[in-house]
Amino acid sequence: MSNSAELNNKFSIGNIITFSNAKPDYPPFVRLKSEKGEATISLYGGHLLSYIPLNSTEVIWVSESAIYQTGKAIRGGIPVCWPWFGKNPDDKNLPQHGFARTSIWKISETGIDTEKYPFVVLSLFSATGFENIWPYKFQLDLKVVLKEYLEVSIITYNLDEKPFEITNALHTYLYLSHVENCVIEGLESVEYLDSLENNKLKYEKSSIKIEMEIDRDYQNTQSPCLIKDSEFNRIIKVSKENSNTTVVWNPWQDTGGRMVDFQENGWNNMVCIEAANTNTDKREIPPGQKHILKTRIEVLEFDN
Ligand code: BG6
Repeated sequence: MSNSAELNNKFSIGNIITFSNAKPDYPPFVRLKSEKGEATISLYGGHLLSYIPLNSTEVIWVSESAIYQTGKAIRGGIPVCWPWFGKNPDDKNLPQHGFARTSIWKISETGIDTEKYPFVVLSLFSATGFENIWPYKFQLDLKVVLKEYLEVSIITYNLDEKPFEITNALHTYLYLSHVENCVIEGLESVEYLDSLENNKLKYEKSSIKIEMEIDRDYQNTQSPCLIKDSEFNRIIKVSKENSNTTVVWNPWQDTGGRMVDFQENGWNNMVCIEAANTNTDKREIPPGQKHILKTRIEVLEFDN
């Protein structure tokens, strides 16, 4: 496991990009910091844990009971669901949401781009022992760029001689003052598969209030979502590229209460808005080609 001193030697850039061993016996975290805000990513899972834009407070929800232990996915942040989303279609015993979120990633690159925004690229390689569960040569990159907003991409490279098919998601947990104060706009008039009713196809008539458990795959939508929070007096805008599915999830009291790593009442302060390729939106990647799934998280002023 790399330690933060080695990574700082090789990849840090002043106090703009730095590494730390924030949790004992756990892979390092990388922090990006500029006058536009700051973001923290764990090398375990390629998992974004925090985004604080300039003039706002934390945008990303992480459970206070999250378990930082190899083999466990972190509850909250932005889990990378890859190369399958949800249950593996062929083998239900394989880990839910794939293996990227429980793997240790490497740093490939850090830098300041031509527009002067700091970025970091983390990578996962097939050569590190996934042959039994994913028998293809691949590289998976996670690129995080800190601009006036946060841009997070996962880039799947097919390095094999045969095509492969993926489903994937950037499973973003957003931090809310309280679900009672929030409304989600952007998915009106969109059909969705209701995971809580065996993927029954339904139609979203209006904006969404979270008042119960919700687990929905919105279909054929590229629209951004606006999460309007009247108490925090902000709108979180989540937009995306190369994704026709948006997943909206809140486990609510019963399901959330059964999860040991979900802090009590945490479901009141979060919602997941996930840029995804799932269900009818699987992606086949031919040899030598790549697929980029991108999400952008931005805080806007509340306009009522
Ligand atoms: C969501 C799924 O994306 O992730 C839900 O739609 C699932 O069905 C949730 O419960 C959390 O998954 P996990 O594996 O992190 O508990």
